[in-house]
Parts: sequence; C-alpha cells; structure tokens
Amino acid sequence: MIDPFGRRISYLRVSVTDRCDLRCVYCMAEDMTFLPKAEVLSLEELDRLCGAFIGLGVERIRLTGGEPLVRKNVMSLVRSLGSRVGKDLRELTLTTNGTQLAKMAGDLHAAGVRRLNVSLDTLDPTVFAAVTRWGKLEQVLDGVFAAKAAGLAIRINAVALKGVNDHEYDRMIAWCGEHGFDLCLIETMPLGDISGDRTDQYLPLSVARDRIRAVWTLDETDYRTGGPARYYTVRETGRRVGFITPMTHNFCESCNRVRLTCTGTLYMCLGQEDAADLRAVLRDPAVSDEGLKEAIQDAIARKPKGHDFVIDRRNARPAVARHMSVTGG
Ligand code: GTP
Ligand code: 5AD
Ligand code: SF4
Repeated sequence: MIDPFGRRISYLRVSVTDRCDLRCVYCMAEDMTFLPKAEVLSLEELDRLCGAFIGLGVERIRLTGGEPLVRKNVMSLVRSLGSRVGKDLRELTLTTNGTQLAKMAGDLHAAGVRRLNVSLDTLDPTVFAAVTRWGKLEQVLDGVFAAKAAGLAIRINAVALKGVNDHEYDRMIAWCGEHGFDLCLIETMPLGDISGDRTDQYLPLSVARDRIRAVWTLDETDYRTGGPARYYTVRETGRRVGFITPMTHNFCESCNRVRLTCTGTLYMCLGQEDAADLRAVLRDPAVSDEGLKEAIQDAIARKPKGHDFVIDRRNARPAVARHMSVTGG
C-alpha cells in the first residue's frame, strides 16, 4: 500500500481498548468517559480486520490501547496474530503500561511476541503514583522483570515531562543499562483534554539530549525498529537510548503506519481527524474480504501529509480532541 505522498504503509497499530487501569496526567483526564462497550468490535472482528491489512502488505502489527492487556480475553487475538509471525507477519508487538505483565508475560512470549514497549515515566514510586494518579511502581517493575525473564526484549518508554521526570534520565539510562533494556524518551503531544495544561509539562527533547550528553557518550547508530524513534548507543552501557520528537523534529515524511481503533475506525494520522469507518464495511454481509481490502485502500489514498501539532499557550486546546488511548498512540 502506497499513500499519495509515496510512503509505503507496512505498520498497523491497533488500539484493542480505549480503557486503562491508570490515568497518566499527560494522557487522560481524571474522569474519563470511555467508548460504550456495545460499539467495540469483537476480538474475532479485529482479527479479521488485521488479516485484511496483512493481505495488503502490513508486516508489523502493534497492539496498544488504552492498556491492551486489560481487555478481556485479549490473548486469543494475540495468539491468533502471533501464529502468523514468521509467515505472513514479520512482527507482533505490544505497548503496555506493564501492570498485567507479571501474570501475562509468559503467555505473550509463548504466543510469538518477542518485543515489548513498556510505558514507565519514572523510577520514583511517589512520582509514579502522581503521574499515573494511583499506579504502584512495584507492580510495573515486577511485570517488567517477569517479561525479561520470559525472554522478551524490552524498551522502556518515558514521556518527557518538565518538572516531573526531567531530573531522572541519567538514572533511567543507568537502570536500563543495568537490566538490558533500551530507553525511549517521547515529546508530549497535544491529544485530548487532560485535567491541566500541556504547555506546563512540555519539554523539548533537544534539551534532554544535551543534558544526557553531559553525562553519557551517545554514539550514532542506524538501528531502527520501524517506528519514529531515532536511536543512539550509550557507550558506557551498550544499550540504546531513543528520542521521539514529533514537536521539535517532525518525522511525518517517513510515516509508514495507520491506526485502527477498537470500534473499527481507521485513523490515517495520529494528529488529524481523517478516518474511515471499517466497522460498517466489516459488518455488511454483502461485503467480502476483497471489498474490505478495497475500503482500506480507499482510506490509505486519503492519508494526510502529517500532523500540525503545536504546544503553545495561544493554542491551549488540544490539536485533536480524541485521546491517544482511543487512537492507539
Ligand atoms: P517501535 O515499533 O518499537 O518503534 O514502536 P513505536 O515507537 O512506534 O511505538 P510506541 O507505542 O512505543 O510509541 C511511542 C510513542 O511514539 C507514542 O507516544 C506514540 O504515540 C508515538 N508515535 C508512534 N508512532 C507515531 C507517529 O506516526 N506519529 C507521531 N506523531 N507519534 C507516533
Ligand atoms: N504525548 C506523547 N506520548 C503519549 N503517550 C500517551 N499520551 C501521550 C501524549 N499525549 C505515550 C504513552 C505510551 C505511548 C503509547 O504513548 O506513555 O508510552
Ligand atoms: Fe494508560 Fe498508557 Fe494513557 Fe497511562 S499513558 S493512562 S498507562 S493509556
């Protein structure tokens, strides 16, 4: 699938639920209204949709949320997609907050998952409780170590938050180095209303990188995961540190992905409203798998050039109203 800007679409992100057991302050408001359960596709329907994308050349699928592992029976979808890895699917991965990993990591590995991104913005239990509004750091650390023991490669995702975790990156690099994890810092993006103002939280990663460079040696590497992160190898630890910079260094030109929500809406860009209702097509008994693929191709033909994110007090409203948990990051 090639979009109007010549980009090959080979990566599908699937938000299997918009629900989450945490309420990170940059992601959600404290009081959230979630999508009505009646509108949510069954796991079998999501599996069929994923199959159509694979048939059209999608090579990597990432399950996200919300928190993907809080969706009931999600393992049936993971197992079904996992059985295609090495055949018509190159990679199945998840982005998770880690709270369910202690009990699910072994099953994920057995199902064919080899790599996880775990959202962990701080190693301080008090800061963790404040960022997630009620999360327990211990629970996530147990999950991360269970995942490591199960043989999963781990990247820790930390959203850079001024005055919250910006004193911790050195410690996080050391901790990740000690345990064999990669680390990825992310600029906060203006998606969905949160209870507060993102301009107060926003930290440009150019600032973070300069501070990190004062302590660690960052060697250039061309290592890529198919995502937007630009990586360096930390010479002292041998592990990688990545930077995702939608605000300071837009990477839309090399975008390779689209996003499917749990209600079957396909968003062609994280930062735009353009969407296609695949649920209606999927549930139309007159439409075959070929018809479904045509609907997907029509949507790809409308993929916008990129986002127009700005974080600025004069633009206090989020760039798009829906939360990242709906769109699937
Ligand atoms: P890898 O497959 O490991 O490269 O994962 P990833 O970085 O694509 O996925 P992850 O779910 O860990 O996302 C990390 C951050 O990158 C999240 O904040 C995502 O919203 C953001 N992100 C991922 N893809 C895009 C994109 O195409 N555009 C923008 N603006 N942000 C993205
Ligand atoms: N900006 C940037 N990253 C965000 N995430 C959630 N909300 C935002 C936001 N507004 C991150 C999570 C997770 C990943 C999927 O997206 O921390 O690591
Ligand atoms: Fe949940 Fe992830 Fe959003 Fe935090 S960032 S509230 S863990 S979906």
